[in-house]
Amino acid sequence: MGRIIGIDLGTTNSGISFMDGEEPKIIPNDRGNRITPSVVAFTEKGEILIGEAAKNQAVINAEGTILSVKRYMGSDHIFNLKQHGVYSPEEISSFILKKLKKDAETFLGEEVTDAVITVPAYFKENQRKATREAGRLAGLNVKRIINEPTAAALAYAYSIKGKANILVYDLGGGTFDVTYLSKENNRFTVQSSRGKSNLGGIDFDNLLLGKVLDNFSKECGIDISTDKILMQQLRDQVERAKIELTSRENALIALPFITASNKPLHLQFEITRREFEVLIEEFIGSTVELSLAAIKDAGAKPENVETLILSGGSSRIPLVRSMLSSAFKLEPEKKINPEEVVALGAAIQASMLTGEVNDIVLTDITPFSLGVEIEGGKFVKILQANTRVPARKSRVFTTISDNQRSVEINILQGESENASENTSLGRFLLSGIRDGKRGEPRIEVIFSIDADGILRVKARDIDTKVEQKITINSAFREYDEISFKEKISIKNRVTSLVNRVSALSEKFDGFLDRSFKKEIGETIRIATKAIVNENVKELSKCLIVLETLIGELNSLCYDEEAGEYEQA
Ligand SMILES: Nc1ncnc2c1ncn2[C@@H]1O[C@H](COP(=O)(O)OP(=O)(O)OP(=O)(O)O)[C@@H](O)[C@H]1O
Ligand SMILES: [Mg+2]
Repeated sequence: MGRIIGIDLGTTNSGISFMDGEEPKIIPNDRGNRITPSVVAFTEKGEILIGEAAKNQAVINAEGTILSVKRYMGSDHIFNLKQHGVYSPEEISSFILKKLKKDAETFLGEEVTDAVITVPAYFKENQRKATREAGRLAGLNVKRIINEPTAAALAYAYSIKGKANILVYDLGGGTFDVTYLSKENNRFTVQSSRGKSNLGGIDFDNLLLGKVLDNFSKECGIDISTDKILMQQLRDQVERAKIELTSRENALIALPFITASNKPLHLQFEITRREFEVLIEEFIGSTVELSLAAIKDAGAKPENVETLILSGGSSRIPLVRSMLSSAFKLEPEKKINPEEVVALGAAIQASMLTGEVNDIVLTDITPFSLGVEIEGGKFVKILQANTRVPARKSRVFTTISDNQRSVEINILQGESENASENTSLGRFLLSGIRDGKRGEPRIEVIFSIDADGILRVKARDIDTKVEQKITINSAFREYDEISFKEKISIKNRVTSLVNRVSALSEKFDGFLDRSFKKEIGETIRIATKAIVNENVKELSKCLIVLETLIGELNSLCYDEEAGEYEQA
């Protein structure tokens, strides 16, 4: 087998790595940088920029720049780049992968076709599949999808001898993951794993951004949240200030010459580290709680943790370090570079696949119990939580009434005895069961999870051999996936309604009285803030208000534009 590279496809930054003999190494990109911004941009001239080039022009081309595509992987979100066309998250992601592949080829001086790509442990099957698809579109053969925290642990543990209980805390730009694993000589066993999607540096930026905007509108009575260019500039400033607060006690956010009214205004906002910590304290607290929960899941105690590995850029925040240190009475491992450790682990996994490294045994787990619903709304577990993967297990069920010809299999994930309290991952019907008295037919239900964390369920009538199967959501993690998806979808709906209201109110400006215009302006301001903050509660409220507004605008202007409402 040829060389396989490792890729950490991050929300904000990506990294590539390879095995140089027995040592995993980072591959620098064409600019000599060890990480590449996960940013794609379409320019006026029709060029596609990726990485630093895309990030650097984001301010002047906010409309044509796509950030954080990873948050949309596996969703049906469409990026509408107007004259440049429409793209799926997989396609956008493939542009990033294509660049990483090219950079690796330049550096290694050979063609690269195979890769191991890392994903958050909580990624479901559709997100893993989307990641695979992005790889395929980029001309890569994705040999394995591995969990980011597992990769991080592998990278660390590869460099040490002996035994260790390791906690990997990964807080990046868009996701939080925590994994507890043990190492005994060269055997790595993941014991438990927890996480939260939509929690990372971007959320801290949004909190800070919200504060700055609030402050500015209070001081100057001006709302700049609808100005895309200003907002992108401000976003950059906010992120820079946040990073500065990691090494300094205070930071300044400044945007000179905002000419929203006739006299130029300057935005200036000073923030201390302590004030920033107050903003993010709750978020960080919840990550520490999840870390403690993961240890409890493994049947261990905080004092059992011997090594604390921090990965992800946001884990550099001093509050993260201090809260973790006091929870675990342990200092984080210093030799680790949080931005590189995941990619390095991917290279090690790759070399395990090629056989270059063959003395490591890695066992990952499914952190939830999986099973089916049975009579009376009860839940029967087929695979227990923390089962090592790959795994395969079956159970035989029967019918509940005479001559019952079909059964519905409802696949559930969770720990409650009551089916309704667990998460349904999918359902299917097995029909063609042989005639028989209740309790006679034998229906075997087989659950199997592969090493990529993809669950397949098969049901078959043992006598008639009729069978039905389904591949469903990744069994690795389910957490707030639903709320995440809902969040993205509601955010997209509100965004498109805001655009619609703006367009309509602009078009029919002459027909609208002052108070209606004010109401529209205010609604757009509130909605934009809710979009920026990804505040689901606010977004839901806005949805109703915006739809009402569109209705009113349409009825006002109906003569002018018959049928507008239909398209909203
Ligand atoms: N010194 C720092 N202090 C605080 N935050 C930082 C620092 N350096 C980087 N960050 C933040 O870390 C995030 C990027 O981290 P990283 O590159 O690990 O994320 P990622 O791998 O792209 O995301 P994910 O793993 O969630 O998909 C950004 O939000 C960035 O602002
Ligand atoms: Mg990451």
